[in-house]
Amino acid sequence: MEMPPLTIGSRTARLPIVQGGMAVRISMAPLAAAVAEAGGVGLIAGSGLDADELKREVQAAKSATTGVVGVNIMVAVRKFKELVHAAIEGGADVIVAGAGFSRDVFGWCRDAGVECVPIVGSERVAKLSERFGASAVIVEGHEAGGHLGTDEYMLDLLPRIVESVTIPVIGAGGVVTGADIKRALDAGASGVQMGTRFAATVESSASDEFKSMYVNATDEDIVLIKSPVGLPGRAIRNPLTQRLAGGDYPVIDRCISCLKDCGKEYCIIDKLVRAQQGDVTGGLVFAGSAAARINDVPSVRELMQRLVAEWEVATSGGAR
Ligand SMILES: Cc1cc2nc3c(=O)[nH]c(=O)nc-3n(C[C@H](O)[C@H](O)[C@H](O)COP(=O)(O)O)c2cc1C
Repeated sequence: MEMPPLTIGSRTARLPIVQGGMAVRISMAPLAAAVAEAGGVGLIAGSGLDADELKREVQAAKSATTGVVGVNIMVAVRKFKELVHAAIEGGADVIVAGAGFSRDVFGWCRDAGVECVPIVGSERVAKLSERFGASAVIVEGHEAGGHLGTDEYMLDLLPRIVESVTIPVIGAGGVVTGADIKRALDAGASGVQMGTRFAATVESSASDEFKSMYVNATDEDIVLIKSPVGLPGRAIRNPLTQRLAGGDYPVIDRCISCLKDCGKEYCIIDKLVRAQQGDVTGGLVFAGSAAARINDVPSVRELMQRLVAEWEVATSGGAR
């Protein structure tokens, strides 16, 4: 059986696979364009970028593919509105809004003919999103990488969200194989969003050191940290996460008040940038719990072919 396509409003991707937006500068134009070109939805992470840089990234991805390219922006960032408009001006097909809820973004997207897809953690917010005009919603479970909005696992939460709305529901968290994709679609999802698996690909803009942390991680290495955003985050254990666990917060060198509401215990943007650039002892390596199942760094093309092949085995009755 072939993988079904994923339709989000007026845009259709050949495969039901969304590459999750990953800040800071992990999912940029090369990754998003490669995923879109291979038939999925490629998302550039806008959080932590300037509006001009984001617009250029979107333009670069859009000029490299005719596939579906979007932008993920955290509602929690102070420049949320500016970044959404930069993404729209750059030609984004989809805006994914995570880490908070914005009513305004629905109108901005509607006016521009762009699909709006919020990340939701409850039936209430899913229904509200549908009422405001969302084209789809993403349900992110506790096993996901990055900031976490719920304690529930994706496959527990997903069926309830599917029941509560009529728009497509995309499941995120813990998906790294074609068999995982089948499980999510069997539970009612129209597609999946995968972050961790795509962070460790050739086209990801993470440093080689960052990608090696994923390849070498075991279950015991995946930990939860306290983020100044006010949510827990999932990352790979290193000297920084051990400091944070003991309440020993690194001093903030420079604060530009990039978040609307920051606890200011330490600067999370600085720590994410450091890891992306290769400092995997002093930086923060966000990763999902499935990082322990990642053993290689394939190209996006190889990975997408592998996911389709694994899906075919799983749908024909094979184990994985
Ligand atoms: C390194 C990393 C950075 C992330 N950054 C963001 C982000 O900026 N905004 C967001 O909404 N989600 C972010 N996420 C979550 C992903 O978009 C995606 O929903 C999640 O990774 C799915 O779970 P998985 O990692 O188990 O595949 C990030 C995840 C990772 C691994």
